[in-house]
Amino acid sequence: MPVDSQKLKDNFAQVGTNGMDVADYFYADLFARSPQLRSMFPAAMAKQHEVLLAALSQIVSSVDDPDALVPFLRDLGRRHHGFGVVAEHYAPVGASLLATLARFSGPAWNEDLERDWTAAYGVVARVMTEAAAEPVS
Ligand code: HEM
Repeated sequence: MPVDSQKLKDNFAQVGTNGMDVADYFYADLFARSPQLRSMFPAAMAKQHEVLLAALSQIVSSVDDPDALVPFLRDLGRRHHGFGVVAEHYAPVGASLLATLARFSGPAWNEDLERDWTAAYGVVARVMTEAAAEPVS
């Protein structure tokens, strides 16, 4: 079944009403799951919270517009290569993202959303890691 992009947008809009709590929860979950990732990030995380949410918003808003989404993700993937991010890091980040979305969706969370978010994150991670593996032109 194809991903229902409107459902992802609606769900993300609902989750986003929780503001920075979403990013707080995400990084707390990620560093509990994978403590070794903590040192890759700055000590003070406020800025990171903002840029993560902004980037996720950008991704979700262009989820049905590959001409905008793919270049954005390729650039993001190349920059992540520069931060020392490797392909194996994408799984724990995806798990924390899903856990965060589930947490803030509350009763609205269901199997369809879980499947669609998993598929969408899979595409994001693939485009980012593929771009990271290519030389900068
Ligand atoms: C959906 C996937 C991801 C999104 C949307 C995302 C978003 C961002 C954004 C917007 C930045 C700010 C810098 C920039 O724009 O270049 C950033 C930085 C960073 N991200 Fe990600 N990221 C993702 C996946 C990952 C993964 C898998 C890791 C692995 C641990 C990671 C680790 C980092 C690190 C270490 C920084 C730099 C922090 C710093 O030194 O300031 N990110 N990320």
